[in-house]
This record gives sequence, C-alpha cells and structure tokens, in this order.
Amino acid sequence: MSTDQLELSLPGGTWSLGELTVTRFGYGAMQLAGPGVMGPPADREGALAVLRKAVELGITHIDTADAYGPRVTNQLIREALHPYPQELHIVTKVGAHRDAHAGWPPARRPEDLRQAVRDNLESLGLDRLDVVNLRLGDATGPQPGSLAEAFGTLVELQQQGLIRHLGVSNATFEQVAEAQAIAPIVCVQNMYNLAHRHDDPLIDELAGQGIAYVPFFPLGGFSPLQSSALSAVAHRLGTTPMSVALAWLLQRSPNILLIPGTSSVAHLTENLAGAAARLSGDDLAELDKIVRS
Ligand SMILES: NC(=O)c1ccc[n+]([C@@H]2O[C@H](COP(=O)([O-])OP(=O)(O)OC[C@H]3O[C@@H](n4cnc5c(N)ncnc54)[C@H](OP(=O)(O)O)[C@@H]3O)[C@@H](O)[C@H]2O)c1
Repeated sequence: MSTDQLELSLPGGTWSLGELTVTRFGYGAMQLAGPGVMGPPADREGALAVLRKAVELGITHIDTADAYGPRVTNQLIREALHPYPQELHIVTKVGAHRDAHAGWPPARRPEDLRQAVRDNLESLGLDRLDVVNLRLGDATGPQPGSLAEAFGTLVELQQQGLIRHLGVSNATFEQVAEAQAIAPIVCVQNMYNLAHRHDDPLIDELAGQGIAYVPFFPLGGFSPLQSSALSAVAHRLGTTPMSVALAWLLQRSPNILLIPGTSSVAHLTENLAGAAARLSGDDLAELDKIVRS
C-alpha cells in the first residue's frame, strides 16, 4: 500500500472520544524516551522523525504521559509537532511518579494530580488537555480500591477548563463503573493483546456503551509478542507478526483504539500497512491457540 493510500484511509477508520474524532490507528509515544522510559532517547532525531511521520501518515491520536522520561516524551512531541494540527489529539495520563530506580510509584493525592496536570500542560505547550487518563493500580496491574477522591480531583480540573475529557487506566471493572458514577469517561486504557485477554468482558461492556477501549502493550510491550501461531498466520497472509497482532485488535471490537509504540519509521509504516489485513475464521481460530497454550 502506498503512502498516499494510507493517508486517505487508515486501517480501522475513526472513532469519537466525545466530540473529538481520532483515527483508530494511533501512536504510543512511551518508548521514545531512553531505556526503562527514563532520560533522553538514544536517537533524538529519529524520535522526532517518527512523531512527524505518524502525523504525516494521517494518525490523529498520540498517547503519552509527563512521567515518560519524565518530561522527555512530552517535550519530544512538542518539539516535533507544536503548533499542533487541529485534528491531532494528544491523550495523556496522570497518577504515577518516577523514582530514582525507574519505578512508577503512585501519585494520586489531589495535590499530585493538580501538579501532574499543570506539568502536562506545560511540557506539551497546551492550555487544555484533550483527554487525561487517571492511572490506577501498580506495575503488576489493576488493584482494587476506590478512585473517588483522585477521579473527583480530575473532575474539578475538568470543570476549571484544563481538561476536555476523562478516562481511566490500569483499572478494574468496578473502578470503571465507579468513575462513570462520578462523571462521564471517554476511554479505558488497560493492558490487552493477543496473549493477555483478561479484559474481554470489559471490552464488550464498553463497546455496548460506545466508549473506547485502548489496549496498552498491544504488541507485548517490553517483550514483543512471539508465538508460532502468530508467525504462521503472518506467513499465510504475507505480512509480519506485529501487523497481525494489530489487525486482530482492530477486528476484535470497533471500540478498540491502537496505540502501538515504535522508535522506527520503518516499523511504523509497516505496522500501519499490515494492520489492514483481514483475518479469516481460520486465522482467528489459530490465534486463539495463543491463549490456550
Ligand atoms: N496506561 C499505562 O499504564 C501504560 C503502560 C504502558 C504503556 N502505555 C502506552 O501504551 C503504548 C504502547 O506500549 P509500548 O510501546 O510499551 O508497547 P507495544 O506497542 O506493545 O510494543 C512496542 C515495542 O514493539 C516493537 N515494535 C513495534 N513495531 C514493530 C515491528 N514492526 N517489528 C518489530 N518490533 C516492533 C517496538 O520496537 P521498535 O522501537 O524497534 O519498533 C517496541 O519495542 C505506550 O507508548 C504508552 O503510550 C500505557
């Protein structure tokens, strides 16, 4: 597929986050920072080039956080793309700090969240953030517990005009419901991919409500997906395993938005082209073996 064709129609089409239209094929900026998501990238010019290429190809959804680097990813986005095209929507998240050991300790007290929103506004060079996700749980995944105080703080910041729309991340089914009882959300961002499908019921519930589900680590994250079933389907379709993993997500449910990360223009272009692959019933059955093995 040529670049011109990609620009006309990205795989999966578009989705609405409130009144904001985004391409279902987005871009996740986290791994543009240095190793362990700390410090500057090894290839700064390369990182800027990937961001510019993503927008040039028609992507209108970039996922980030001021904690990436920290500050590094947001500053790269700003340097590469500011002033932002009107159609580009940057989704960020708050709720975790970085520590000296590259850890992600929670930072969900009201004062932490107010500061995090100010930091994101400043590093991205914006007056208002399009979407802010409240990141819950910890590095091992979602944890039970009330989000009322933290989410209520973000609602106040929204009412002050600093945030357009809210979402939650790394959240349990119950926390999603608790947030929705407080204020509307437009997205949930949790870990999900071909090999980790624990959120299947949540995806279906949100699809019924017209709310986006945004899988993080769509390609497996720091340990990219590897499986003989994935390779076999990719071989049959004449594409790459990463492309099949993305095509599967797009086909899984219309409310799934992709935010795959890459530091390579070649991978970005390859993933975008390959995600348009149509998986047959046989392909899907073969890919289901990944969770049964
Ligand atoms: N809410 C949360 O708690 C949370 C947690 C983690 C991540 N996130 C978000 O999710 C986004 C995606 O996560 P992620 O980037 O960590 O993981 P990912 O998208 O699952 O995978 C990215 C990895 O896949 C590799 N890759 C991409 N395309 C490839 C290709 N065609 N061939 C071979 N390797 C390829 C990349 O390496 P190359 O650079 O070499 O292409 C990179 O190492 C992040 O950017 C972040 O915005 C959110």
